[in-house]
Amino acid sequence: MTGSTSVKDALRSTAAVDSIYVQGWVRTRRDSKTFSFLELNDGSSLRNLQVIANDWLANYADVQRLATGASIAVRGKLIPSQGKGQSWEVIADDLTIIGPSDDTYPLQKKGHTPEFLREIAHLRPRSNLFGSVFRVRSRLAFAIHQFFQERDFVYVHTPIITASDCEGAGELFRITTIDATNPPRGGDGNIDYAKDFFARSTFLTVSGQLEAEAFACALKNVYTFGPTFRAENSNTSRHANEFWMIEPEMAFCDLTCNMDTAEELVKYLIRDIRENCPDEIELFGKFVDKELTARLEFVLDRPFQRISYTEAVELLLESGEKFEFPVEQGTNLQSEHERWLTEKHFKCPVTVFGYPKEIKPFYMRLNDDGKTVTAMDVLVPGIGEIVGGSQREERLDVLEANMRRHNLDPVEYKWYLDLRRYGTVPHSGFGLGFERMLMFVTGVSNIRDVIPFARTPGSAEF
Ligand code: 4AD
Ligand code: MG
Repeated sequence: MTGSTSVKDALRSTAAVDSIYVQGWVRTRRDSKTFSFLELNDGSSLRNLQVIANDWLANYADVQRLATGASIAVRGKLIPSQGKGQSWEVIADDLTIIGPSDDTYPLQKKGHTPEFLREIAHLRPRSNLFGSVFRVRSRLAFAIHQFFQERDFVYVHTPIITASDCEGAGELFRITTIDATNPPRGGDGNIDYAKDFFARSTFLTVSGQLEAEAFACALKNVYTFGPTFRAENSNTSRHANEFWMIEPEMAFCDLTCNMDTAEELVKYLIRDIRENCPDEIELFGKFVDKELTARLEFVLDRPFQRISYTEAVELLLESGEKFEFPVEQGTNLQSEHERWLTEKHFKCPVTVFGYPKEIKPFYMRLNDDGKTVTAMDVLVPGIGEIVGGSQREERLDVLEANMRRHNLDPVEYKWYLDLRRYGTVPHSGFGLGFERMLMFVTGVSNIRDVIPFARTPGSAEF
């Protein structure tokens, strides 16, 4: 607010200030004989600003009753601190209690379990850990834009409401205004969605890729970055039903160019967060994941391992490891397999490419072997898949054949096929899961703890 100084700025002041005005929430209060220490936090920094409230303040009796969580405004002097751990503190000339709190405030000093904190998702950003997570989330979003803007990629806003199922997995949330108690029905007795709001079936998007492709085939290098939705019933620590995805799409770019860009992006983001959120990374390294700093360092230092799907399956078969799900050429890699490759075998991020066409969506380019497609997934330690992408099928006839194989009607995708009819080009892109990237840079192990208000099966409170 005008005239007020953030805690962050106050703490990095280069000189004493005669009259400073700060606002925030009380983290702790300690009373001594003639004054009280207050730790003030306003979310601008992990650090608190120490405020000294003397007993000559007119409302000192009220100050002595200030509880954790109360909001206050302080006018006073910023002076060098005698105490340890901080360079500046504020001697209050005037302290206004804006909103009191009491001992029912759930975020008392003692540590809380992540499960409990999820139940108070509206208050948890006031804790050190979650304040840090969400500051890093904000910075990460900024760094993503910076990466692409520096490279002249155009930011495209792809629609949230769409009629197509890009991934073909049928994990769609339907959008409808049809009265569920009295839906219009067609001759076959089924609900007639031609009478729905958009005169057709519509859903929340699972990916902005198809629309991004249209823009890449005009503006060359583009990216979309927004929320995506999947009605998959996976109650895991890495799946959410609403998550954000970064999807670059690049014309005149083949699979290698695509893998290079994904690797460059992941490294750029790690570097940016290390540089711009050092206090937060230090906190995560202390309290969340002791190996975080070393792991990030290690990832930056060397190229990601690249192997074909066939080689990956061979390694898994030869590993002698007992997996819950069987390993077999031609089937999907499960998360335990991905984690074995990246955590146990290569001990670094791994880019797996060239998956069997049967287990991948219709839009991926068919390789000359007729069996595999130009898919690529980036796997990282602790998480598994963080990026999924491919070179796209740019040949009209092959694409139409792929669609039929996937039981898709090419007529429904006329606009998408037009991109191949008129000036088609080799092009590629990928999706980076924003929350998974955030988990990777913070070491936070559950996706529910990097989203402000998580949506997972059976849970959409707040
Ligand atoms: O591999 P996916 O499904 O790929 C696509 O959607 C492509 N259309 C992207 C493209 O080529 N433009 O998803 C991409 C990434 C995954 O690697 C993962 O990081 C993340 O999105 N992701 C999820 N994150 C959280 N919760 C879920 N349920 C996720 N599903 C995918
Ligand atoms: Mg994938």
